Formats: sequence, C-alpha cells, structure tokens
Amino acid sequence: MSNYHIKHLEEYFQVYRKSVRNPEVFWEEIAEEHFVWHKRWKNVLSWDFSKPEVKWFEGAKLNITENCIDRHLKIRGNKTAILFEPNNPDEEAEHITYLQLFERVNKFANVLKQEGIRKGDRVCIYLPMIPELAISVLACARIGAIHSVVFAGFSSTALSTRINDSDCKMVITSDGSYRGNKTVDLKGIVDDALNQCPCVISVLVAKRINSKINMKENRDKWLQPLLDEASNSCEPEIMDAEDPLFILYTSGSTGKPKGMVHSTAGYMVYTAYTFKNVFNYREEDIYWCTADIGWITGHSYIVYGPLANGATTVMFEGVPNFPDYGRFWQIIEKHKVNQFYTAPTAIRALAKEKLDFVEQYDLSSLKVLGTVGEPINEEAWHWYNDHVGKKKSPIVDTWWQTETGGMMISPIPYVTPTKATYATLPLPGVQLALMDEQGKEIKENQVDGRLCVVYPWPAMARTIWGNHQRFKETYFSTFENKYFTGDGALRDEVGYYRITGRVDDVIIVSGHNLGTAPIEDAINEHQAVAESAVVGFPHDIKGKALYGFVILKETGETRVHENLRKEINQVITERIGPIAKLDKIQFVPGLPKTRSGKIMRRILRKIVENDTANLGDISTLLNPEVVEAIIEGSLVK
Ligand code: WT7
Repeated sequence: MSNYHIKHLEEYFQVYRKSVRNPEVFWEEIAEEHFVWHKRWKNVLSWDFSKPEVKWFEGAKLNITENCIDRHLKIRGNKTAILFEPNNPDEEAEHITYLQLFERVNKFANVLKQEGIRKGDRVCIYLPMIPELAISVLACARIGAIHSVVFAGFSSTALSTRINDSDCKMVITSDGSYRGNKTVDLKGIVDDALNQCPCVISVLVAKRINSKINMKENRDKWLQPLLDEASNSCEPEIMDAEDPLFILYTSGSTGKPKGMVHSTAGYMVYTAYTFKNVFNYREEDIYWCTADIGWITGHSYIVYGPLANGATTVMFEGVPNFPDYGRFWQIIEKHKVNQFYTAPTAIRALAKEKLDFVEQYDLSSLKVLGTVGEPINEEAWHWYNDHVGKKKSPIVDTWWQTETGGMMISPIPYVTPTKATYATLPLPGVQLALMDEQGKEIKENQVDGRLCVVYPWPAMARTIWGNHQRFKETYFSTFENKYFTGDGALRDEVGYYRITGRVDDVIIVSGHNLGTAPIEDAINEHQAVAESAVVGFPHDIKGKALYGFVILKETGETRVHENLRKEINQVITERIGPIAKLDKIQFVPGLPKTRSGKIMRRILRKIVENDTANLGDISTLLNPEVVEAIIEGSLVK
C-alpha cells in the first residue's frame, strides 16, 4: 500500500495531508495491514496533553517479537536477521538467520522465566554490542518483561542509579568487552554497581573475552549452560497495546537521568513504518546503523524497526578507528551495505583523516546515508555526500529524540530533495509547530523558534518511570497543549526544518540570539579546523560574549597563530555577521564528549566561567582527560 512506502514527492504530500487530516485512519490502516495482532484495538487513539495521557491502539493484544521474528519464518527463515561483525576483523562475522534468532530468543526467554522473571518485571541489560544484547532485549519482550538497557560504557555509579530507579530484579552482562585493542572489565563494573543495588536478585553472565571474573554465589550464573539446557520454544506473552515495552534513560539538563517509558503497539508500528520509508528499505538490502543498542537509535533502528520489516541488520562490536580509520568503509565493502546510518561526530572524526582510508574501499553498494544525534555541519555533510556517497546516495538527516521513540523529521530518500544541514520535512503523522518566546505560534516561514509537536504520534514516550509529574513539567508545561522538544529550529522559505540545537545552548550576545551550531558551522569551514564548540562567557558590555574551542586538523600542531584567529573570525563574519565573532579562541587537543559523542558544552561553560570547582561528574565522559588540558590552556584565568 502506498501509505506504507512513499515513492515520489507528490505522494509524500498526499500521504502527509491524509495523516494530518485524519491521523487515526492513517495509522489504523498501517497497523491493520502490516502487523499481526491477537486482538484488534477498540480505539485507535485517545489523548490529552494536559495530563498528559496518550493511548494508541487501546484494547489491542499483541507480542512485538511475533512481529519481529515469528511471522517472518515462513518466507524468511533462512534469511540473515542479524549480521554480527566482531571487533577484530580477523574474527569471522556471524550470520544469524531468522530461524536461528527465533530459537535463540525463545531459549533466552525460557531462561529468564526459569530465573523467576515475570511479565512487568524490570531487567537491566548491560552488555557490549554482541548478539546476546539484541537477543536478550527480544527475550524480555517475548515474556513481557520490561528491558532497561544501559550503555556498557557507563560507569558503575551511573549503572547503579539506573538499576535502582526502576527497581530491576536482574542484570544481564558479560565477563568483559572488546573496544579496539582494549578490553573492558564489565563484570567488575557490575559488581561495583550491585553493592548499591539490593533489588537485584540474579545476574546472568555471557562469556565474551574469557577473562577471569568473580562469580558471586547464589546471584551470578553463566548464561551459556542455562541456554544449552533451555527449550527452544517459548509461547509469547500476549501484551496489551499500552503495556510498557522498555525503559531507556536519558539525561536531563538537571537532576537525575529520566527513565523514558515506551509502550508496545504504537512504538512497533511507528519504528517499522519510519524504518521502511526513511531508509527506502527493500527486501534484499543490508542495513547498518553504527549506533550502540544502549541508545534509542539502536533500540529503534538496529533491533525493532529493521526486524519488524524482516530486514538484515548489521551489529558492529568495534570502533571506527580499529584497526585503522578505514574500518567503517571496509565493513561497508565487505558486507555490501546498502543503507548506512551514523552520527555527525563520527563523520567529522573520519573526515579529519586521510582520504585514502575511504578511497581504498568499494562503497558502490550504498544507496542511502543517514545521520542522527546532533546538527550536522555543512562541511561534514558535504564530506559525507562527496566521499562516502559519491554524490549518489541521498543523505537522510533524521531529527528525533529518545523521547520521540522514532524519527520525526527527515527527508525520504529519492523523494525529498535534500539540502545540506536540513532535516527537511516532518514525516507523515508528525505535526510540528514553531513557538516564539512569548509562547505564540509562529506561522510564517523563514523564521526560527522553539520546536514543538502538537499532536500525538504512536511512538512517543508515555511517561518518565516513577515520575509522571516530571514528565509533564519537562515536556508539556512550557507551551500549553504541546510537546516541547527542547530544540530550536529554523523553517526555511519552502517549509524545510533545520535543527539549530538545544535551546539551552543559545547565547545572547548584545541582545542578539546566536545559536552555537551555525557559528561552529562557520568555524569548521576554515580549512585548518577539524571541529569546534562555542559557548557563551560573561562579558561586561555585551552580556555574553563568545568563546570558541577549536581543534585543528593537524593534531600535532601546537603553534597557535594570531593569523588563524583572525581568519576564523573572518569566516564567521562572512557567514553570519560580525556580531557572531569570537572574543576568545582557544586551540584544544579535543572536546569533552559524552559516550554518545555529544559535546558537553556544560563543562566548557564552567571552564569559561572560571568555575572549574563545579564541573560535576566527568567520569562518564568519553575522554575525561581533555578537560584537564582545556583548563590548562584556558584564556579566562
Ligand atoms: C537530541 C536528542 C534520537 C537519536 C539520538 C539522540 C539532537 C538528534 C538530530 C539531528 C540535529 C539532532 C537534538 C535532540 N538531535 N538528531 N538530525 N539534527 N539535532 O537522542 O540523546 O535523546 O538526543 O539530539 O538536540 O533533541 P537523544
């Protein structure tokens, strides 16, 4: 049905109009035709953003794993569901067919049951990117247990906070993990965390690196022997449409992490639909998303969305620079990847290296390139387009959030004309509004404002675990009857959206609103610059002035030219105007980043405010060591 796979621009507009005129009919048709249900819904949608309460497909009964696995067995039993590419390129890739996935998920589900896990129980999964991660997620869903995956790069403190917040009964982990040429002692981290977690009764341990670990009696068990004994058939638990499927934590600007709760039916329908359209997915395609399943991107677009479409989804255990900076491109050639989905931070890091790393591989299988996680700057967009896509693969710049469950704004490849740095148009069913600071909706184009969603979409988070009030305050109180994203966006003359970044990153200089993203964009255009971050610092006359942290391409380069500073400001002046010029430019060896690759501007702000005593916890950063170096070279001391 055309609703489900949009093929040209006119059709997009038709489908979009229909989805707005009658959202219930639109989603109902998709739900009816493309999924298996045990019982049909009584009501497609009921909602009230003032509470907030949203229910999709109320009364329906289903199990998401039947939709992601069982129903494919007849026609795709021998098709690869998960293609596992290990950290070490010399280790063989593993092709897990739909039939094998079915058996492994069933066995795992039976082990969970045997260990006392029941429908509604929370299970924390703290695993590296190995098949057991996807399998354990699905095994939880099979029996109706709520999974809470914690990215296996988080510290023991971060882990214990999350375990306790949702009262997990069990932790699934591994002895350790590989990361490039290093190993990480995951079980040790879990042991530390569990000193603080009385709620955890049992720990299942997968073997990955064969390290010697401590097994606590009556609590810890090796996974494999249990799996070996388990039956490979486990009847799926029949769930209500609105039963929680999982909890996933996301950090707020203040306070402890928020456990976003996603429910079953709407999430399934929405991630499947967006996967199909945004990646123009066809039956024989090999699809690869480089994210970790510890983030929402991995939940929705490594596991659920692809599998609901019977796709082959690549799971990569390693890192982009091991054994060298060509690894991503080598994997694309090796598995003939058709759709490749990654983050701007990865693109920028790889663009910094010699072109040879890209050019030595055959990337002709690629049809669609995706990006997600932060605004993609002009330079990175073009590098991706020119050198990876060879100007032949459309780039889908997908804007969405942990809270939205699935992509919200994105081009549809080969349908929506792309525009560098623009996420372009809302996907069907997504009704947006831009708001001004007074809380009024801005109707005209060529403006920027605060990005809101005014109507429910099926994959939206339903609450924050254990704190519905916070859910309401964070997302539904800034603007009446609207979901507030926390992002700023610009709408151009044709209605394309460009996400300008979190509104808390906006800096007001001499009364002018300046977004950090466009300034960084401009800085990055200077040919000597690899990456940059801009924050505001207190200024007597302007209120706030701009402080730029700049990584030069020649990483060994420590000489700092006054000329370079002038040139960078020249580019900014040309691109934005003299108002956006930087007052201070510090050349740095790196920028503090979260594990998911986001620049921690909060830390940079503290440094420029000369408030380094209050940096907060930097131990969960990807690269805590750069903080010291930045403080040392700071220009505000
Ligand atoms: C925030 C959500 C959803 C996947 C991973 C991030 C920023 C996300 C884009 C994009 C510009 C983007 C927003 C958003 N963001 N995608 N294509 N262009 N900004 O999930 O950790 O929940 O972060 O990431 O600021 O609010 P998340």
